[in-house]
Amino acid sequence: MNCLICKNSITPFVDFGKMPIANGFLVQDQIKDEYFFSLKVAFCEHCKMVQLTEQPDREKMFHENYAFFSSTSEYMKLHFKDFANSVIKLQSLTKDSFVVEIGCNDGIMIQNFKNQDIGHLGVEPSKNVAAVAKEKGVNVVSEFFDVTLAKKIISEYKKADAILSANVMCHIPYMHSVFEGIKELLKEDGLFIFEDPYLGDIVEKNSFDQIYDEHVFYFSALSVSKLAEMHNLELVDTIKQSTHGGSMRYVIAHKGTKEVSQSVKSTIENEISLGLDNKKTFENFANNVANIKTDLHAILSDLKAKNKKVVAYGATSKSTTVTNYCNITPDLIEFVSDTTPIKQNKLTPGAHIPVLPYEEFRKAKPDFVLLFAWNHAKEIMSKEAEFMQSIGAQWIVYVPKVEILNP
Ligand code: SAH
Ligand code: TYD
Repeated sequence: MNCLICKNSITPFVDFGKMPIANGFLVQDQIKDEYFFSLKVAFCEHCKMVQLTEQPDREKMFHENYAFFSSTSEYMKLHFKDFANSVIKLQSLTKDSFVVEIGCNDGIMIQNFKNQDIGHLGVEPSKNVAAVAKEKGVNVVSEFFDVTLAKKIISEYKKADAILSANVMCHIPYMHSVFEGIKELLKEDGLFIFEDPYLGDIVEKNSFDQIYDEHVFYFSALSVSKLAEMHNLELVDTIKQSTHGGSMRYVIAHKGTKEVSQSVKSTIENEISLGLDNKKTFENFANNVANIKTDLHAILSDLKAKNKKVVAYGATSKSTTVTNYCNITPDLIEFVSDTTPIKQNKLTPGAHIPVLPYEEFRKAKPDFVLLFAWNHAKEIMSKEAEFMQSIGAQWIVYVPKVEILNP
């Protein structure tokens, strides 16, 4: 196998076994045709990129029935409003400016530019979520971003003052085409700013559930700086984010056009001290993950033996890795509660646990609640504290280790 970035040879450090599409919620009739692939992760010792060794075709993941709607979290709405406002300030954007967002989903971030009358375009291949953004009055092109689309955008619009992307770059295996597109689309003094779940947090928190089909890359400043260099671009700033269990925002400019912030150096130094440049770190991670699998299965089996009612909260993409890798079956978890209509009354991918509307969670009065949406723990635990206390229920978490928590 060869690295998707530098083409050197790579070998996997962890194997999660056969996995379905993480957002492939399905009904009983579809089980016989369910698609599986092999979920393995490798570290490239040469360019330091951590990556999947196999990924399903993009059309299997991003289509007119895409199940992830960004605006289900109030906290994320505020996060993206702040992100947009910080870019407006940084690049002094006006109505004559042009902002492109790659993977705008239901418009959660780009709507803030539209609302302030700033020239904008969202790129979103999944047609159902793109339609929601369009309903908000946002300009959207429903295609996959790559160098071909970048050229088309330049000819139909103009070059961009800012290109933004959140939780999307890590989804795209044809990364060189994306970077070539950015190199062309970005104005001479423009900025390309993107954020994704951060490899440093994944390693520190053992958050193995960030690993699933859509996430082909697990970025660090070490790997992103090298990738940028390959396209005569430069990583000029890194800004830590608390979202999605710990993310990093990377600011990239044409080489030599902007001052490089001190934080790039300190982030890379910190990554080296964390061992993100060393394959031993990833071998340790694989051991920790195997322990979590054993512990989580043991705790759920024990609760079942004691006849406790256990449900889960948030039918996240991440939970597809947890249920399938840890062998969590419907006899261990009665159902998963989720507020997203397209996921409700379907089965979770691979493990086939029913997904029910939130109202069922309130009715069920569980003894234990496995928090799949742990990245929204602050928001969820505070809004559910009173209810959980009133029924005497407890949370189960598995990141960074398996634990039972009082609400
Ligand atoms: N930015 C949003 C959505 C993240 S989900 C947020 O942070 O909440 C990832 C999105 O990337 C999906 O909506 C998917 O359709 C989109 N996507 C996948 N490949 C893409 C590509 N090549 N170009 C643009 N968007 C892409
Ligand atoms: P999220 O963790 O954002 O993403 P991913 O799919 O990338 O792992 O998904 C959160 C899921 O949890 C989403 O399906 C909506 C659901 N959810 C609730 O049901 N209730 C809530 O209060 C929140 C915040 C999310």
